[in-house]
Amino acid sequence: LKEENVCATGFKAEYMVLEGDPTEYTERLKKLKDIGTIIEGKPDVQNPSIIYSICNTKDIWYFGVLIKRKTDWRKHINKPYSFSNSLCIHIAKTLASVSSKGDKTTKLLDACCGVGTVLLEACYSGLSIEGCDINLKSIKHTTQNLEHYKYTSTVHCMDVKDLTQQYDAAIIDLPYNLYSYSDDVITTNIIESAVKLSARIVIVSKSDIKAAITKSGLKIIDFCTVEKRGRSTFTRSIWVCEKEVQ
Ligand SMILES: C[S@@+](CC[C@H](N)C(=O)[O-])C[C@H]1O[C@@H](n2cnc3c(N)ncnc32)[C@H](O)[C@@H]1O
Repeated sequence: LKEENVCATGFKAEYMVLEGDPTEYTERLKKLKDIGTIIEGKPDVQNPSIIYSICNTKDIWYFGVLIKRKTDWRKHINKPYSFSNSLCIHIAKTLASVSSKGDKTTKLLDACCGVGTVLLEACYSGLSIEGCDINLKSIKHTTQNLEHYKYTSTVHCMDVKDLTQQYDAAIIDLPYNLYSYSDDVITTNIIESAVKLSARIVIVSKSDIKAAITKSGLKIIDFCTVEKRGRSTFTRSIWVCEKEVQ
């Protein structure tokens, strides 16, 4: 580190404890002190202009600039329109990240966007996304939610089967047969419509629709379940799928 001649005014040094790091607290403090004395310049722990960090993983020491994740996306919890079956913002954010694989050039579609929970997270993350919902009220709520946070996105009020554009990835949070009717035929139609629009599809459902997914020519590449807690507790299943290459 001495050889790097690190120099900064108003810096702060932080020790980042990663899982599996065996370094004891006193040793961590000592390392931090060593780093603080090696960096040239006046520190400012209250209002740092730059934060340097060290960490240890698998017996290797790393040093670098620490970029802390922003948490202001949590403002979406208080979006003007929501309903009891809307996705929670954490799941919505994960769906946007997983479907796009973090690639900001990806063109995404939320095929059954409801009140636009996934759209808000994708827009916040700088992803390009369009929404579609068959229900006019849902589309109005999505539009108003987007406007509230000054995000721009195209939303289509139509059956997903009538969309013609192509997307790099699509998210489908299938109707739960509560506020919007659903059955096996509707599920299959929505999935098969999305398959025509995109090669990568992330599907969310309350029921086990694995058979419908594979029947539509999709290969399941990842799967998990997430529990929704609250007044009505239920489990959502999430499948990450890609079109089978013929
Ligand atoms: C479970 S909700 C989606 C909730 C949404 N993820 C949210 O957080 O607000 C399913 C949505 O699918 C829509 N839907 C049902 N059939 C559809 C179809 N054929 N094409 C597009 N949207 C459809 C319903 O109107 C409903 O808003």
